[in-house]
Amino acid sequence: MRVLRSRVVIIGAGPAGLVLAHRLGLDGIDSIVLERHSREYVERRVRAGLLEQGTAELLRQSGVGERLDREGTVHDAFELCFNGERHRISTVQLTGHGVCMYSQQEVVKDLIRARMSAGAPPYFGVDDVTITAITGDAATVHCTLDGQPVEIRADFVAGCDGFHGVSRPAIPGSVLAPYQHTFPFGWLGILAETPPVSEELVYNVHDRGFTLHSMRSPQLSRQYLQVSPDDDLGMWPDERIWAELHTRLGADDHRLVEGAILEKGITSMRAFIAEPMQHGRLFLAGDAAHVVPPTAAKGLNLAIEDARVLAEALGCWYGSGNREPLDHYSRDCLAGVWQAQEFSAWMTQLLHKYPGDTGFEMRLRQARLRHLVTSPTAARSFAESYVGLSRASTYATR
Ligand code: APR
Ligand code: PHB
Repeated sequence: MRVLRSRVVIIGAGPAGLVLAHRLGLDGIDSIVLERHSREYVERRVRAGLLEQGTAELLRQSGVGERLDREGTVHDAFELCFNGERHRISTVQLTGHGVCMYSQQEVVKDLIRARMSAGAPPYFGVDDVTITAITGDAATVHCTLDGQPVEIRADFVAGCDGFHGVSRPAIPGSVLAPYQHTFPFGWLGILAETPPVSEELVYNVHDRGFTLHSMRSPQLSRQYLQVSPDDDLGMWPDERIWAELHTRLGADDHRLVEGAILEKGITSMRAFIAEPMQHGRLFLAGDAAHVVPPTAAKGLNLAIEDARVLAEALGCWYGSGNREPLDHYSRDCLAGVWQAQEFSAWMTQLLHKYPGDTGFEMRLRQARLRHLVTSPTAARSFAESYVGLSRASTYATR
């Protein structure tokens, strides 16, 4: 069998795997990236699109921020609508930070291009990866490359293969503690050829359920609709989606322009964290280790943050022989991950209608929302979590 050697094998070419490969490459550390799907597939997959300022800055510092600066849009504020009222919350006024709207698949495209230019493109279409050793003298991974069975021997394996990947199951059950929660609703997301409802994001709370009105460009809108967890797309023909979006926008529904729906999908609302995020020579990053409900758009930002921390820890090991940052990788990431999980769960509870809600729960939610738009202290605390500032401090103080 052919044997390949590399310092790091990275499983998965999503944001976590690609940022890791790229940052390692900048430090002169070689890696091999193995991706199950084709390049076209990963570049087209529609996902979230909100980058915290710190995430955008990291991409710039990594030399992949040029298109982001040209095509991404910086947002100083968002709208929070409830009880028929519109409130503008300026995160820039409250925290000095905004966010940037730039799709995950565009980040992925930029990173793949950067790996190609560096002469180290990911291997695509590798659908039989097995992790065969993560303890002992070396890590080994087996798969088929160019039709040939291959063994890859490496110092480390980075499991960046998302929630359904092979990496997390490679950690023995006796070591791994999973923490999880499923919310009793889902999100139906559409990408539509129509101008967004507003230039700013609109988070809209309604008695029939939450809607989020987002965007990808001035002519492309992204909207999400709270649906029942068991709903399937067959139950949601385009006309029903538009009608429901209009109803939930209430008096503001003239802002919604209908157009061709280019893509639609239903996402379950799951929260999951696996502890620890490392075992032996295997390190998990991104969705492989943790999943947040999409409400606060933290998934992409967390995945990139893990990759940064892991790249730095590996850089330290290869640069100076100091293993401490690697040994503390899981501990160092988890504080910020739990904080983002807490905020995402809190924001999800704040904005969504729960099955069986009584008037009592609905009024409590109204009181919480009212507090947010009337107390500058509450608004600032919310905004700090929303833009990722409070999480940044957990990394800074570690
Ligand atoms: N072998 C090789 N590649 C795999 C395997 C496998 N067995 N299993 C999964 N993959 C690939 C997937 O095809 C995907 O391209 O791993 C990649 C994981 O990428 P993401 O799912 O994008 O995960 P991550 O990089 O952690 O980024 C997290 O993605 O799901 C969103 O909301 C989430 O925005 C967050 C971001
Ligand atoms: C998105 O555009 O995908 C998006 C934006 C903001 C969120 C969640 C998702 O809070």
